[in-house]
Amino acid sequence: MSDDATTNQYVINPDAPAESLEAKQPWVDNGVDIVSPDRYYSSEFKSEEWNKLWPKVWLIAGVESDLPELNDYFVFDVGHESIIVSHTKEGIQAHYNVCSHRGNRLVREERGNNKQFTCPFHSWRFSNQGELKFITDRHTFREELVCDNPGLTPVNCVVHAGIIFINMSDNPPDIKEYLGLPEGYLEAYQVHKMKVVRHQRVEWDANWKTGIDAFYETYHLHAVHPETAGVMGDLNVQYDTFENGASRMIVPIGVPTVRARDQDAMNEGLDWMLSTVGIDPATFEGGAQEVRAAIQKAKRKNAAEQGVDYSQLTDGQLTDSWATGVFPNVQMGMHAEAVFLMRFLPHATDPEKFYYDTMTLMHPITDPSHQAPAWMGLPEDTDLSGKTRENMVEIQSDDNEALGIVLAQDSELIPVVQQGIRSRGFKGPIWGEQEQRLRHFHAELDRYLNDEK
Ligand code: FES
Ligand SMILES: [Fe+2]
Repeated sequence: MSDDATTNQYVINPDAPAESLEAKQPWVDNGVDIVSPDRYYSSEFKSEEWNKLWPKVWLIAGVESDLPELNDYFVFDVGHESIIVSHTKEGIQAHYNVCSHRGNRLVREERGNNKQFTCPFHSWRFSNQGELKFITDRHTFREELVCDNPGLTPVNCVVHAGIIFINMSDNPPDIKEYLGLPEGYLEAYQVHKMKVVRHQRVEWDANWKTGIDAFYETYHLHAVHPETAGVMGDLNVQYDTFENGASRMIVPIGVPTVRARDQDAMNEGLDWMLSTVGIDPATFEGGAQEVRAAIQKAKRKNAAEQGVDYSQLTDGQLTDSWATGVFPNVQMGMHAEAVFLMRFLPHATDPEKFYYDTMTLMHPITDPSHQAPAWMGLPEDTDLSGKTRENMVEIQSDDNEALGIVLAQDSELIPVVQQGIRSRGFKGPIWGEQEQRLRHFHAELDRYLNDEK
């Protein structure tokens, strides 16, 4: 492991071949400009984003495994837009959730199985491929108005690595090029075989970017999430930036923070992590520095027993969080057995509100002797078999139990940060190199707003 003191270019595995997904990417110099804080609260900035950002980018609408059956659908809402994503006989398609008659929202349910949708206002009917199938009292319309059977407006939709992306522009870029991630990066995790076992949403009183910023670095862990110190490297993190605003941080898990005075002492968190992979901490002979490797080894063994394929993953990927930012509004905590997909969804009208929408995706576990990894914080009664797909649960921002300890801390923090950002006394964020992903993200955002994209 190495570290460049001036730019904090920490490398998690110096032996990783240059072409490997783990390799440190060349450092990108995004300058030292301080952005104006009005981007976090002004209505004008929000409107600019709606003119120049949201309609142009690929957005993660959901995951393929949520639409296993023909005619399954879900609704994806972002800001004032709502989009129906359907598994049609021609594949997965997306349409604006807007009736072509008078603009009513066609579908109000979050998900279901429907071949046709009937508008609740005057009962016009549409197929899930967007064709207008029926107009109530059609003879009362002048023919020139309805002769072309005005259907639903389609939205570009592609499936990549088991993830469903939509794009509202007329000429969307190629999805792989847009994502900017190395070839095979997302595919390695086999997300298409994972199932959503938990879907939660919480509304926070902050701009969506205040949310992104808080999740794009581990610099705040020692202060806000001190209990992670026993099991997570917060300073020895590999930050990488990619093309088109994408980025990731590799956060080592199963090691105490390098800030800890005693680097070898075991602790409760490490014991717990060992036990979830089937190692009895009482008989574990190593010290804290041996835990990460022991977990990696155990996971390879368990995967083989469960028939899960980890052959495309490095040892590091079996323990570490590869928190991967997909521009503009998603971060995926990529783990061998699960993906924690978080979306930062802008509020329809208020620039100082957003939805933190999270889906926990995992390879189904059918053998009751296998447990979900400790970091996921799933309630004990969670169905890990992937057989049931519960609807999204809206949780209150002060529901600490539902949020879990770490998110409860973020929940308390983020609105308070927003208030400070809003002050006349704040001159704009001073980002260090542990915050290079934030700078990279905002630089890309600015390219959209400056019509460079
Ligand atoms: S608005 Fe949909 S049928 Fe009238
Ligand atoms: Fe946090």
